[in-house]
Amino acid sequence: MAANLKWPPVLALLLVAGMAGIASAGNIAVYWGQNGGEGSLADACNSGNYAYVIIAFLSTFGNGQTPVLNLAGHCDPSSPGSCTFLSSEIQTCKSQGIKVLLSLGGGGGNYGLSSTDDANSVANYLWDYYLGGSGSPRPLGDAALDGIDFDIENGNSAHYDDLANALKAKGSVMLTAAPQCPYPDASLGPALQTGQFDNVWIQFYNNPGCSYANGDDTNLVNAWRTWTSSVTAGSFYLGLPASNDAAGSGYIAPGDLTGKVIPDIQSIGSYGGIMLWSRFYDVQKNYSGQVKGSV
Ligand SMILES: *[C@@H]1O[C@H](CO)[C@@H](O)[C@H](O)[C@H]1NC(C)=O
Repeated sequence: MAANLKWPPVLALLLVAGMAGIASAGNIAVYWGQNGGEGSLADACNSGNYAYVIIAFLSTFGNGQTPVLNLAGHCDPSSPGSCTFLSSEIQTCKSQGIKVLLSLGGGGGNYGLSSTDDANSVANYLWDYYLGGSGSPRPLGDAALDGIDFDIENGNSAHYDDLANALKAKGSVMLTAAPQCPYPDASLGPALQTGQFDNVWIQFYNNPGCSYANGDDTNLVNAWRTWTSSVTAGSFYLGLPASNDAAGSGYIAPGDLTGKVIPDIQSIGSYGGIMLWSRFYDVQKNYSGQVKGSV
């Protein structure tokens, strides 16, 4: 009975927020792992600013290659046990309800899938060594990650649809993807058509044709509308550089983001929040701290 008493005040608060035009708070996702100067994974989670932390990158996989993790200066994955200290940090994140994902691909690296069988064997590897399976030795220790992020950028889209289907078939694996904003994405187009992705964080940077520029969000809003009406996914995130230095183009000042761009897109499609590249730049500029609560 007592619980019911909570509802009228909550409803009143929501009504007031709605009337005042206050943005409903979305989530913030951040990439961590590509700069040794960005602080620890646990510090990122303890900041309280993120709902998703994406460990980047598994930069070599597929074509029968032994998968290779690259975590810049954080640890040396080629040295056995070097990165297993991250297991307790992953648990720290998960105990706060933060989802921790492993990102496949990235701007460099050597990856690609040669067949459906190859995709299935990569899915088995990811399950055994990073997710709920029990391969040994596990590069990040015993902690099970929540899911897998596809940051495929090399233009070869073959068999990522197979990989997405195989991972989802394992059960309870969150799938996310980071396509570039021109639609359709050259690397992730067929994978996204499976409809298997929970969150899609679209990279609205280094892509002048669909990014924010000079106070103008027309191209961004048009691309957002195309993406959210063409792809079936749980929710869509606006992927942004966390500082001017984080990308060649597409930076949006915090005030422009919360005052203009978010209000322009949040009612279009299934808006989930923003994704930031990367934790390193976010530490420098506190971008997430400034926009949290208004995205
Ligand atoms: C980040 O900015 C927010 C909002 O201005 C502020 O409350 C917070 O203390 C800042 N965090 C850091 C680490 O500077």
